[in-house]
Amino acid sequence: MQAIAKMILFGEHSVVYGKKALAIPIKELKLKVKKQKEKIYQNEHLEYIKGLLNIKEYIKVKSTIPISRGLGSSAALAISLARLEGADVEEISKLSEIKAHGNPSGIDTAVILNEKALIFEKGKNNIYLDVDLGGYIVIIDTGIMSSTKEAVDMVKNLNRMDIIDELGNITEKAIIKIKEKDIYSVGKLMNKAQFNLRKLKLSNTFLDKIIKKANYNSLGTKITGSGLGGCIISLCKSKTQAKKLIKNILKEGIENYWIVKV
Ligand code: PMV
Repeated sequence: MQAIAKMILFGEHSVVYGKKALAIPIKELKLKVKKQKEKIYQNEHLEYIKGLLNIKEYIKVKSTIPISRGLGSSAALAISLARLEGADVEEISKLSEIKAHGNPSGIDTAVILNEKALIFEKGKNNIYLDVDLGGYIVIIDTGIMSSTKEAVDMVKNLNRMDIIDELGNITEKAIIKIKEKDIYSVGKLMNKAQFNLRKLKLSNTFLDKIIKKANYNSLGTKITGSGLGGCIISLCKSKTQAKKLIKNILKEGIENYWIVKV
């Protein structure tokens, strides 16, 4: 049984406060689980989900989704295990996300479960939309593991509702521009979102450096997911531009990258 990855295009963190967010599935990255009798190391989170599902066997996990980088690996694990057991996938994923980071908005579960681009708003029905900008997103894995719980708690303690509101406004504008297939405006809004995410202290010197370099060859760049590390996404107008971007940042010591059509 398997599940895919996700990236948040707009609205991470502000989604926790009831604003809209926009996420898309990453079908190129997958996590697969299967049962086995032979003993194999099971981490604490895996044990927790196994407990929820009453799984006694060992679980072998094969995954191309990097862990703790904002691409939804923990939701993918819960969803694939719940699928394996024919259990209530949404409920298991929700409990697992609560255990992993306390106050999840539910966006990871929504997009990974449905495998469709969607507008997510807490307590509302998902709105599915076509993301067809005629461009490419380069996902840059910084290799830095980040804790969603730490990031969410930090934003809570900062208590900057003015920035959360601004991030909410940016997402609203981005939804319009995505529907209009206006890739240039979407890029600009990504930069604007990053400016505000940085004000929430979710960036750091390394991320700032990569983002600056990526922007020599992109329309816009921002963190995706919780921040403090994890992955950065850059919007490019062509594959040639995406390849140039990668060439330019490879020497900065990044862990990995993927190019996804949007
Ligand atoms: O799990 P991550 O790193 O993709 O972060 C999820 C996005 C947040 O808005 C930071 C948290 C949430 O629950 O929505």
